[in-house]
Amino acid sequence: MKKAYIETYGCQMNVNDTEVIFSILGRAGYERTEKMEEADLLMANTCSIRDNAEQRIWGRIEAFNQARATREGVLVGIVGCMAERLKNQLLDTGKVDLVAGPDAYRRLPELLRAIHPGAPQMDVLLSRDETYADITPVRTDRNGVSAFISIMRGCNNVCSYCVVPYTRGVERSRDPHSIVREACDVFSRGYREVTLLGQNVDSYHWTDGTETVGFAELLRRVAAISPLLRVRFATSHPKDISDEVIETMAEHENICKHIHLPVQSGSTRLLEKMRRKYTREWYLERVAKIRSLIPDCGLTTDVIAGFCSETPQDHRDTLSLMDQVGFDWAFMFAYSERPGTLAAKQYPDDVPPEEKNRRLNEIIQLQGRKSLERYRAQIGRRLQVLVEGPSKRNPAQLCGRASNSMMCVFPDTVHRAGDYVDVVVKDCTSATLICELTA
Ligand code: 5AD
Ligand code: SF4
Repeated sequence: MKKAYIETYGCQMNVNDTEVIFSILGRAGYERTEKMEEADLLMANTCSIRDNAEQRIWGRIEAFNQARATREGVLVGIVGCMAERLKNQLLDTGKVDLVAGPDAYRRLPELLRAIHPGAPQMDVLLSRDETYADITPVRTDRNGVSAFISIMRGCNNVCSYCVVPYTRGVERSRDPHSIVREACDVFSRGYREVTLLGQNVDSYHWTDGTETVGFAELLRRVAAISPLLRVRFATSHPKDISDEVIETMAEHENICKHIHLPVQSGSTRLLEKMRRKYTREWYLERVAKIRSLIPDCGLTTDVIAGFCSETPQDHRDTLSLMDQVGFDWAFMFAYSERPGTLAAKQYPDDVPPEEKNRRLNEIIQLQGRKSLERYRAQIGRRLQVLVEGPSKRNPAQLCGRASNSMMCVFPDTVHRAGDYVDVVVKDCTSATLICELTA
């Protein structure tokens, strides 16, 4: 067997895609290695979402190329969003043998066989129907407890800042029967949590002409597999998250009470420019609905600082929305112009870098305080935790998530990964709940 080493960048979808790639490479006689020095194939599964993501990958291409120069027969492959975006530009460096976009992974064995000196291979065709539904991913998680399952690919939104619709193509939903089968399969192998993944899970829609399944129905079907199987999902879109989905969450104990609901900005004027198709008020109403049906729901978000034409008032609107909602956690970014997007074509990237960073820092500071408040509010509560394994910081303790997605650590010598335990929260930081087992 040859050995393949893959580094994964970007979102959870990419983590799952890497698992699909390992499965396909297995058919071509490659097994997975985590050691770069023993690999015959060096790959990076890449992300284009912000310029700094791509810059890091250019650094890795250099490192891979050096490894290729010192050992005979080593191949270098770039796959994923950056492969899709840059295409020939990657081959033109002479440092890459293989370029494959997100819908070309089935052809990897064929492409690898066709590589010869001076004949690198590329496939960056996007598809309307590829979902890799029949491919069983090779799980690369370390805990054996929590698995990601891709339920759809691509994105039909055209948020003006976002490169994803261009790198991942149009939206398509995977056959629900294959999703349920995959979830049953991981459950039977000891997994106790599945996260259903899509760029916009609320627009999941599958039909074969006689049967039609939307996201709420998919959630019900996966939740019905076993009360011992927790169900999570990401990412929701504020314009699409429906009452039916929120109600379905509320009705099922084993659907985790956490929603990742990217807001991007608190200013309706900017949301409009971003083409998010909702207003500040709409977003706040969705949050109010979630909290009325699921009072303890964990809520996290994504925020962009310094989008085109953002004024100090727009920025204050973002801060005030964050203050008002009180997210448990947020992913916070400075706006990075991506070539080819609507924003790059239509609006000047006119907030100076120092000002973008100043605003980003204000956002980060505020969120730090809010996170601490949200975590502190849990002190004294009893929570059920799914054990993931020893805590990274302190191997004498176990760690795992509560339903609301907050990470919990607690001293415990009895339980193991995959067990459910009841804990009481004693203390916290802004990202961890410090707990004890309940008597
Ligand atoms: N610049 C900065 N952040 C971006 N995101 C998407 N595109 C950009 C960009 N051009 C952020 C959004 C999205 C998250 C995955 O990445 O907040 O929700
Ligand atoms: Fe980008 Fe919008 Fe699609 Fe999210 S929903 S990936 S922000 S286009």
